[in-house]
Amino acid sequence: MIETKHLTKVFGNLTAVDDLNLFIKQGDIFGFIGPNGAGKTTTMRILVTLMEPTRGHAIIDGLDVSRNGQKVRRVIGYMPDFMGVYDDLKVFEYLEFFAAAFSIERSKRKSIVEGVLELTDLQSKKAATVDSLSRGMQQRLGLARVLIHDPKVLILDEPASGLDPRARIEIRELLRELKRMGKTIMISSHILSELEEICDHVGIIEHGQLVYSGTIEEIRPRLGIHTKVRVQVADNQEKAIELLSALPQIHQVQTNKNYISISFKEGENIDGLIARTLVNANLDVIAIQPEQIKLDDAFLQLTKGIVH
Ligand SMILES: Nc1ncnc2c1ncn2[C@@H]1O[C@H](COP(=O)(O)OP(=O)(O)OP(=O)(O)O)[C@@H](O)[C@H]1O
Ligand SMILES: [Mg+2]
Repeated sequence: MIETKHLTKVFGNLTAVDDLNLFIKQGDIFGFIGPNGAGKTTTMRILVTLMEPTRGHAIIDGLDVSRNGQKVRRVIGYMPDFMGVYDDLKVFEYLEFFAAAFSIERSKRKSIVEGVLELTDLQSKKAATVDSLSRGMQQRLGLARVLIHDPKVLILDEPASGLDPRARIEIRELLRELKRMGKTIMISSHILSELEEICDHVGIIEHGQLVYSGTIEEIRPRLGIHTKVRVQVADNQEKAIELLSALPQIHQVQTNKNYISISFKEGENIDGLIARTLVNANLDVIAIQPEQIKLDDAFLQLTKGIVH
């Protein structure tokens, strides 16, 4: 549904987007991840026809965006990183304004506006002025706005930035709902743990280049991230460490006051072996549980040495 081929954007002597190849399937949520200045906004602005690429192509729903600007704009909903300020405008006026801008017939505007207000849970704020809304509500209004013309593709530039945890969860739920409705969603962020739960695929961009692209599950082995477990024993932790360190399948044993953290060599999963080793030595095992590795850690590993 969204594709870029050798997409490149040069500003003076800076290559903001450098030979970028993306492929996003219909119905997917794609997380576009990268630190500040990586080229996320520039890529998105090209996709939504606001900027011409220096080289390469961007294709949305089979249309080359440089050649079919008008058609592409009907297919996409773009939420920029900064929303304009519209003092005094009421929420429903704001949405009706955009409905008019999309040439939606006057007779249909009201019901369409009602529909997006309901979807984004903003009915109660219908008559409030836009600038009186909290940041979380403004972000939801931003989403309501891009849904007005019922686009197939949503391109959202950091929709969760500056939101508190509750508002972030609300946005996440809304994105899940939009996915259920069949939309293809590209969403950028540098808050990685946030995307981890909702994205089908992620692409990590740095200095305009795609350094990784794949599913969250694929990211772990690719990065050589080791599966970790936590082991707790009632006493004699030293003995447990000694025994576990001797196992050839184990990559590293780290100790903490209350538990032992063990990482396995790639492809090894030996919870059972750990339990047997400890029990056979008559050690009292309290718990063996997996440790979650967050995408944030993966990101740090991946970009280590690349970020300056
Ligand atoms: N219009 C422009 N003219 C010159 N340089 C630009 C322009 N727009 C962006 N850049 C530069 O291109 C690079 C990529 O910027 P971009 O805004 O795409 O990054 P980003 O990944 O969206 O970052 P952030 O996380 O801060 O939003 C930056 O170095 C930026 O300064
Ligand atoms: Mg940006």
